[in-house]
Amino acid sequence: AQGVERGDDGALRVAGADVREIAEAHGTPAYVMDETDFRSRARAFAAAFAPADVFYAGKSFLCTTVARWLVEEGLGIDVSTGGELAVALAAGVPGEKLLLHGNNKSVAELRRAVAAGVGRIVVDSFEEIDRLAEVAREAGVQQAVLVRVTLGVEAHTHEFIATAHEDQKFGFSVSAGDAEEAVRRVLAAPALELRGLHSHIGSQIFDTSGFEIAARRLLSLHAKIQRDNGIVLPEADLGGGFGIAYTTADDPSTPQELAKGLREIVERECEQLDIAVPHLAVEPGRAIVGPTTFTLYEVGTVKQVALDAGARRQYVAVDGGMSDNIRTALYDASYSATLASRSSSAPPALSRIVGKHCESGDVVVKDEFLPADVQAGDLLAVPGTGAYCRSMASNYNAVPRPPVLAVRDGQVQVLLRRETDDDLLRLDPGAGPQGAA
Ligand code: LLP
Repeated sequence: AQGVERGDDGALRVAGADVREIAEAHGTPAYVMDETDFRSRARAFAAAFAPADVFYAGKSFLCTTVARWLVEEGLGIDVSTGGELAVALAAGVPGEKLLLHGNNKSVAELRRAVAAGVGRIVVDSFEEIDRLAEVAREAGVQQAVLVRVTLGVEAHTHEFIATAHEDQKFGFSVSAGDAEEAVRRVLAAPALELRGLHSHIGSQIFDTSGFEIAARRLLSLHAKIQRDNGIVLPEADLGGGFGIAYTTADDPSTPQELAKGLREIVERECEQLDIAVPHLAVEPGRAIVGPTTFTLYEVGTVKQVALDAGARRQYVAVDGGMSDNIRTALYDASYSATLASRSSSAPPALSRIVGKHCESGDVVVKDEFLPADVQAGDLLAVPGTGAYCRSMASNYNAVPRPPVLAVRDGQVQVLLRRETDDDLLRLDPGAGPQGAA
C-alpha cells in the first residue's frame, strides 16, 4: 500500500497507524487497507479513462463501504452474482451504476437485477438471452444488454495467445458465428435493448498487445454487426485484467498509459472502419484494490528444514494461510513478505512463509529473504493482497476468515469483521447450546 513506511523504531506504519497497535486491537491475521490509496487508485482510473465508464470488478473485493467509496469516486461496479449484487444494493449503489456478469445467472438473479434496474446485463449464452427476455417482459421493462464475445485472444500473466478458437466457458464465439447469432436473437427480443459487445481476455496482464488485438477484433465485429443489421451500437466494453506488481519483477502500466494506449487503438481502428467511436467501458478490479492492502500475520513457529543438498530452508509459519490467500497454492502466484513489527540487522535467510492448514501446499510466499532472527511473535506483512484474497477466502479447517480493516489518518475502520467460531457453528443445526458459548 502506498501509505506504508517504517517508524523510528523500525515497525511498519500504514496511513499513520502502527501495525503493532492494529494487531493488538484487531488481532491477526488481518487484511489492512489504505483507504486513501484505494480512493486515489479508483479516482485515477476514472480520470484516466473518462469519458469511458469504469466499472470496478466487485469479484476482486467488495463490501458496502468500498462500494460507497467507488460511487463517490465516480466509478460503477461490475457484479457477477446475486450475492455481489446484494452487497452493492445494500450499499445503496444505484442500479444504473451496476453491470451484471456471469456465465450461468439464475432466473432469480436475473429477476433481482432487472428489478433493481441494473444498468447493463452482459448476456453469455443463448438460454440466457431467452430467460432474460422473459424476465424483462414480465417486469414490463426493456433491459439494456451487452453481448459477451470470445475473440480468440487469451491473455495470461506476461503473455497472450491469439488462437482461432477458445476452449472455455465464457461468451459467444466470434469465429463460429455464435456472436452474430446472439446479436440477432437479442435484436429480435422486444424486451431487450442491445447496447454493444463485451470482451474480457484475462487477468494480471502486462502485455498490452493482447488488449490491442482484442480491441481491433471487437471493433471489426462491432462494425460488421452495425452494417449487416443497419443499427448503431452505442457502446463497447473491453473488460478488465490490468496487471499489478506482486514482486519487483512486475512492471505494470499506469492507468494513464493504459487509457491512452486503448483510446489510440480504438480511434485509429474506428477511423479505418469508418464508424463512430463507441462509448467505452473497462472493468478493472485487481489494479484498483490489489496494491492497497497487505495481510498482517503473526509468526508462530520457525523451522529450519533440511534440503537435499545439505542446505536448510527457513519455514516461517504464520497464523493464517491458504484460507486467506489461496492464490499461491492455486495459481503458483508470487508474493513478497517483510518483517513488520521491528527492524532487524540479522543476515537474510531464504524463507518460505507457510500457513497453519493441514496440508503441505499451504504456502503463502514461496521464497523470500527474511532476517535469520525472525521468531514467534513477530508480525509479517504480505503486500498486494487486496484483490482475490478476502474474496476467495475459505473456512478450510474451520478457520474463521480474517477482518478487512481500512486505515486513514491513523484511524482504523472495520470494513468486514473477523468471523468467529460462532459464525461457523451458526450454520450447523447440530451444534448444541455449548456451540454458542
Ligand atoms: N471483467 C470480467 C468479465 C472478469 O471476468 C474479470 C475477472 C474482471 C473484469 C476483472 O479482472 P481484473 O481487472 O481484476 O484482473 N481469481 C483470479 C482472477 C480471476 C479473474 C476473473 N475475472 C486471481 O486471483 O488472479
